[in-house]
Amino acid sequence: LPLPPTFSIIFLPLIPIIAYFLIHFISNHSSNLPPGPLSIPIFGNWLQVGNDLNHRLLASMSQTYGSVFLLKLGSKNLAVVSDPALATQVLHNQGIEFGSRPRNVVFDIFTGNGQDMVFTIYGDHWRKMRRIMTLPFFTNKVVQHYSNMWEVEMDQVVHDLNKDEGAKTEGIVVRKRLQLMLYNIMYRMMFNAKFESQEDPLFIEATRFNSERSRLAQSFEYNYGDFIPLLRPFLRGYLNKCRDLQSRRLAFFNHYFVEQRRKIMAANGEKHKISCAIDHIIDAQIKGEISEENVLYIVENINVAAIETTLWSMEWAIAELVNHPTIQSKIRDEISIVHKGAPVTESNLHELPYLQATVKETLRLHTPIPLLVPHMNLEEAKLGGYIIPKESKVVVNAWWLANNPAWWKDPEEFRPERFLDEECGTEAVAGGKVDFRYLPFGMGRRSCPGIILALPILGLVIAKLVSNFEMKAPQGVEKIDVSEKGGQFSLHIANHSTVVFNPIKA
Ligand code: HEM
Repeated sequence: LPLPPTFSIIFLPLIPIIAYFLIHFISNHSSNLPPGPLSIPIFGNWLQVGNDLNHRLLASMSQTYGSVFLLKLGSKNLAVVSDPALATQVLHNQGIEFGSRPRNVVFDIFTGNGQDMVFTIYGDHWRKMRRIMTLPFFTNKVVQHYSNMWEVEMDQVVHDLNKDEGAKTEGIVVRKRLQLMLYNIMYRMMFNAKFESQEDPLFIEATRFNSERSRLAQSFEYNYGDFIPLLRPFLRGYLNKCRDLQSRRLAFFNHYFVEQRRKIMAANGEKHKISCAIDHIIDAQIKGEISEENVLYIVENINVAAIETTLWSMEWAIAELVNHPTIQSKIRDEISIVHKGAPVTESNLHELPYLQATVKETLRLHTPIPLLVPHMNLEEAKLGGYIIPKESKVVVNAWWLANNPAWWKDPEEFRPERFLDEECGTEAVAGGKVDFRYLPFGMGRRSCPGIILALPILGLVIAKLVSNFEMKAPQGVEKIDVSEKGGQFSLHIANHSTVVFNPIKA
């Protein structure tokens, strides 16, 4: 039967498109890939889902596609895990299979093709780097050794706020001062070195280098060349910018800090050779365990992983405490009852459960790395009955695990009490039973080793601020803005608000 001409004109051109979707549908189902939106050639789902694949968007997609779903971003696969049972598989039971990290053209540059620890694949190099970093950074002995120094840096912040008349009246944006404090804490641990003030040219340079690195690495500007290999030549300018920044940045760390330690170590001779973390790392390099480049990439990793994450958490905690004065008073009361005027120190933090619950609640509601650092399977793997193609980027939506109303009571509320009541026993790190709903530091092999430093640092800062100041919104402002700015790697406060620090009379 001949087709009417209008039918042919309208429908014939659609046949290849329909055929493509049918073939795609059948092949997805026959190869048992996780569900996900239908993708188009070359672009995959990229044009549908856009660039900003943040924790909230991915959580809402999980309502449609399920607890593991697959997005195609050009030539790359992104598997998104949104429930505790599957998170257990990725991070724990199948932790080796999913224990690598994906990189892209830009991360290849910033990690020297995986010469670092954070972004290297799971294997001998990662194991060696993690072992070498553990002794000088991530043990209880390190915490005991340095906690006095942390407190000195924190007391200096309290002192500066007390001196600042503006902080008591119209208020200040405290972020920059806390940033200096955290740089000093980390640089004293790493190099026995510190910055004099926010105006110290070396501090300005270090923060500039690090924030430019974060901007270039996290930008969506280079997605087109990353997702669509054919377009990679157009990225040349961008990649050159990254290369130039990285070589100047590593030279800066080397010249001003690492080389200084090498000289001091040489001058001290064998006897007092090691006095800070990088001395240990240099020692491992001298013994031939790692290369000089690896030393610099360890410095780079600490700069990236340790400082801003802890700073975002502090900003969130302060913002929530300003908006919840009763929580501030409860912390203050707890400290005065338990410590009766004696200072809070690292060794007695465990006596302050409400303070610790406040830290936990901050990291739950405002998970600083909401999708963890992406994982990757080097080989094809099975997850939840589906096939995850090899070299997929696998993200665990840790923010959603900790904010899904199916698993938490009134998750949108900032309520530290939950960790003393219905959630008592829920810990960021496993004492006994692992709770995969609460993973602000990840879990398993690639989990954050810095938790051992971050939790006491956060507890101490909050304790010092709350016991010395009533933190308030400026006059005329009822609540400070807690809108968030999200991205693949970070969830930070969108606006660095002004806070009034009203000294509490002793
Ligand atoms: C990895 C969170 C502070 C060093 C990670 C991961 C998360 C995280 C979610 C990835 C886990 C995974 O992929 O499964 C945080 C948060 C912090 C914090 C929320 C502060 C509140 C620190 C500090 C240090 C540090 C202070 C170092 C002094 C690292 C390193 C890794 C890592 C080296 C990579 C581990 C690996 O790949 O094997 N962190 N972190 N972090 N973090 Fe942290």
